[in-house]
Amino acid sequence: MVHRGAHERTAATRAILLSYHCHGRRRPFGSTPRMNPIVIEVGRGARRYAIEIAAGLIGRLHERLEAHGAGHRSVVITTAPIWHFVRNRLPPRLASVEPALMPDGERHKRLTTAARLYDALVQREADRGTTVVALGGGVVGDTAGFAAATFLRGLPLVHVPTTLLAQVDSAIGGKVGVNHAQGKNLIGAFHPPRFVCIDPLVLASLPRREFRAGLYEVVKYAMIASPELFAVLQRDLDGINSRDIGLLIPIIAECCQIKAQVVTRDEHELGERRVLNFGHTVGHALEAVTSYRRFRHGEAVGLGMLAAAALAVARRALDRTVFDALRQVISRMGPLPAVADLPAAQALDAIRHDKKIVEGRLHFVLPTGLGRVTTVTDVTERELVRAMKTIGMR
Ligand SMILES: NC(=O)c1ccc[n+]([C@@H]2O[C@H](COP(=O)([O-])OP(=O)(O)OC[C@H]3O[C@@H](n4cnc5c(N)ncnc54)[C@H](O)[C@@H]3O)[C@@H](O)[C@H]2O)c1
Ligand SMILES: [Zn+2]
Repeated sequence: MVHRGAHERTAATRAILLSYHCHGRRRPFGSTPRMNPIVIEVGRGARRYAIEIAAGLIGRLHERLEAHGAGHRSVVITTAPIWHFVRNRLPPRLASVEPALMPDGERHKRLTTAARLYDALVQREADRGTTVVALGGGVVGDTAGFAAATFLRGLPLVHVPTTLLAQVDSAIGGKVGVNHAQGKNLIGAFHPPRFVCIDPLVLASLPRREFRAGLYEVVKYAMIASPELFAVLQRDLDGINSRDIGLLIPIIAECCQIKAQVVTRDEHELGERRVLNFGHTVGHALEAVTSYRRFRHGEAVGLGMLAAAALAVARRALDRTVFDALRQVISRMGPLPAVADLPAAQALDAIRHDKKIVEGRLHFVLPTGLGRVTTVTDVTERELVRAMKTIGMR
């Protein structure tokens, strides 16, 4: 199955990226005038929802909630650090109400946290008309989203993602959930939001490493579906790193558009959605063998994409120049954690336990060109080990 996402996408985002391409607009971070949001539709039928993207959009969140029929009653769920950074960007009516706080960090993405959120919802007398506003990164989005999916058999949910990873990935697609001691994301549901409110200005306070972690997922979208996006990354990495809002908006829109298109066609992850796992086979293995402590998820994906590309080159499925371009973009983004001490054999063992193994077959996403991938099921353990050694594992 070959996926050629780029030329199938609607003209809208393409035009945005291209107009950017032509004019190369530059504005210092934070100086963008109020603009109409870019709107990207996700899903079908009753489960259809909009992703809205604009600088300063979070300042109009109350108005946007009302526009989506979700303004009547809402409970904001966030963490103390995120509230600290983002509160002053919210409209006064939302900023003045105490949010329901959950503890910050991946280790709190678990059932006990969801249980505390149920307590908070009971205390606030939430009913089926109460909208849960998940304000934060993927951890808040997944945990608050899971609480929303299960409380009273489902409350309306609005995602307000505040990390780059959440804006391009976790807030889109309707997956919510928490971790189990035996594995990540083992408990969850599909619960699409009413809408997703993306304000790239909130990324100003994001720590560098978190920002970079999201950027590797941006590289992933470029590799699976958008040579144009790849070209922007190659050309404008400095501006992107300084979080130039004129650059970030079209980039985030392009990523959302790609994910929206993939998940709309494959809402329950039966087939095409697998392409989003490019770089994730080795990436997840790296996270597992380091007990989720060494890498930010995106960093592991960065390394995993290099391993997948190396494997593709070894098979002669990918031109070496594409591998070199990928390696260069990734290395220019900044340092990645060391892998030299990690045995490829141990990572292989983790891959054997991966969720991407269906009926005994590993579904491996192989890049075949810029913006083009294919899923194969015949990757051997030897190829995997070789590829992992190419990226420096022992
Ligand atoms: N549901 C999905 O489809 C999906 C997809 C990808 C990832 N995920 C999940 O997402 C999670 C990772 O999300 P993440 O990378 O956003 O991490 P995160 O939610 O832990 O956020 C990272 C850190 O950034 C801080 N932060 C967030 N916004 C900030 C801001 N604007 N300014 C300053 N600091 C800010 C947070 O306090 C946190 O410490 C994982 O649990 C992963 O499983 C889910
Ligand atoms: Zn990922």
